[in-house]
Amino acid sequence: MGMSVTISVATEQDAEQIFRLQYLCFQSEAALYGNYRIDPLVQTLDSVREEVASDCVFVARLGEEVVGSVRGSVTEDGAASIGKLCVHPRLQGHGIGARLLRAAEAALVERHGAKKFRLSAGHRSEGNLRLYRRVGYETVGTAQGADGVPMIVLEKPASTYATTA
Ligand SMILES: CC(C)(COP(=O)(O)OP(=O)(O)OC[C@H]1O[C@@H](n2cnc3c(N)ncnc32)[C@H](O)[C@@H]1OP(=O)(O)O)[C@@H](O)C(=O)NCCC(=O)NCCS
Repeated sequence: MGMSVTISVATEQDAEQIFRLQYLCFQSEAALYGNYRIDPLVQTLDSVREEVASDCVFVARLGEEVVGSVRGSVTEDGAASIGKLCVHPRLQGHGIGARLLRAAEAALVERHGAKKFRLSAGHRSEGNLRLYRRVGYETVGTAQGADGVPMIVLEKPASTYATTA
């Protein structure tokens, strides 16, 4: 591959590409659960635009193309919530997902003083769970998404950030 993938903060102009990319990437999760109403597939472009404006959103770029994305925001209890991590299917398995995760974690610590990170994954999404555990997340509970998919909730203290980055 001639060009390298770079990670940067998403801009307003990226919203449409993020919207399309997440629609493509989350098809595999929808198929796994037989549920095409999962949040990343039903989110509107306007809602993605709002997130880009208000949250910590990062993109992975290959030239002009957005090939990966992740969102982070601070929740009411002070934990930073990370979600909608996705990488274009043709570029998965090269560490881009882990790089996006690290970028979001670093920004949440630097900008919002996050003390811990929280994310969730579908209970049967073994690859996702493996990725999160490998970078230091541990299961803290379960939750039922609005779409009905049983989720595993994982957390990682921000204090471990320096050693796992
Ligand atoms: C989840 C997702 C974002 C991961 O992105 P990714 O870029 O493939 O992630 P990584 O490359 O960092 O890690 C994936 C695998 O590639 C391996 N890998 C990482 N760097 C590698 C490299 N340089 N060479 C070979 N393999 C590598 C990792 O070890 C990991 O292996 P594992 O599946 O055995 O744990 C991507 O699969 C995706 O978009 N999935 C659909 C949407 C989704 O489910 N999102 C998460 C919702 S919870």
